[in-house]
Amino acid sequence: MLRVGIIGVGTVGASVANILRDNKNIITARAGKEIVPVLGVVSNLHKTRNVDIKLTDDIDDVLNDDSIDVVVELMGGIDKPNEIVRKALLKGKAVVTANKALLAYHRYELQELAGDIPFEFEAAVAGGIPIINALRDGLSANHIKSIQGIMNGTCNYMLTRMINDGVDYLEILKEAQELGYAESDPTFDVGGFDAAHKLLILGSIAYGIDVKPEDILIEGIQNITSADIAFAKEFEFSIKLLGIAKKVGNEVELRVHPVLIPENKMIAKVDGVMNGISVVGDKVGETMFYGAGAGGDATASAVVANLIDIARKGKGSPMLGFENQPGEKITLMSKDN
Ligand code: HSE
Repeated sequence: MLRVGIIGVGTVGASVANILRDNKNIITARAGKEIVPVLGVVSNLHKTRNVDIKLTDDIDDVLNDDSIDVVVELMGGIDKPNEIVRKALLKGKAVVTANKALLAYHRYELQELAGDIPFEFEAAVAGGIPIINALRDGLSANHIKSIQGIMNGTCNYMLTRMINDGVDYLEILKEAQELGYAESDPTFDVGGFDAAHKLLILGSIAYGIDVKPEDILIEGIQNITSADIAFAKEFEFSIKLLGIAKKVGNEVELRVHPVLIPENKMIAKVDGVMNGISVVGDKVGETMFYGAGAGGDATASAVVANLIDIARKGKGSPMLGFENQPGEKITLMSKDN
């Protein structure tokens, strides 16, 4: 049996517990053992939640329980989860996190600390789309020439509703929050920072570079006006917030900003909360990944996939890091270019 403690039982945490219950038969068969969420940590024990696991409001109940094999970190933020993930790894517990902000700032040091203890984060980028898995495994024979796409479901939902239905910015932001898509501070979504965190994670896997959000150009969707929307519609363009990584020689350009895209392009048709990411490899050519980029079940699907993988493989399959570009040190292109 693989015993799991879930830190943060909100939309995604509850879905993780529910998927482990609802799909128990296939999960047990695929994992080779039962995966059981034994304890969840919440900040408010009195709030009603759609989940039937034992709850506590003390994180140490998970960290100090030697019978818990894996900590699933879903609390959000940076400093506090960093401390918790470190403690869990130092105690020899595997960690699965969906926390893109944490990874954008601390992935390499946490990966190093983990060593051969599993430290996985498929859910951190593009919700349910297995894009980390694709970059690490499915496309590992390739030099990655570019990665670009829609990496924030909230912004894409908002832009789609603004363009298709003419709904007001603040009204749709509220909708996205109610649907559980937005970050607890939605500035991370609309300001482009969440997409940047995800882009940096993908960039770290594809290119072995370690750069911080402050080092790259980030522009969100807050300044898109009704005139921009009218222009886009009149000339049959869509407006999408894209994360873009392009390799040019030994440099990689990383940026996040809104882009006008002709309506007939595939990426322009990625609407609502969906994410769509194109990855171009030197041998495979273009590949395109599409799916729900936010939401409880879609994101939890990726968390549970990591749990199944950990149950199957156990220790000893460390994530690729800086060493993944032997003989070729790739650096960040200046954002002033
Ligand atoms: N707020 C994020 C989004 C959640 O809208 O994409 C998933 O990472």
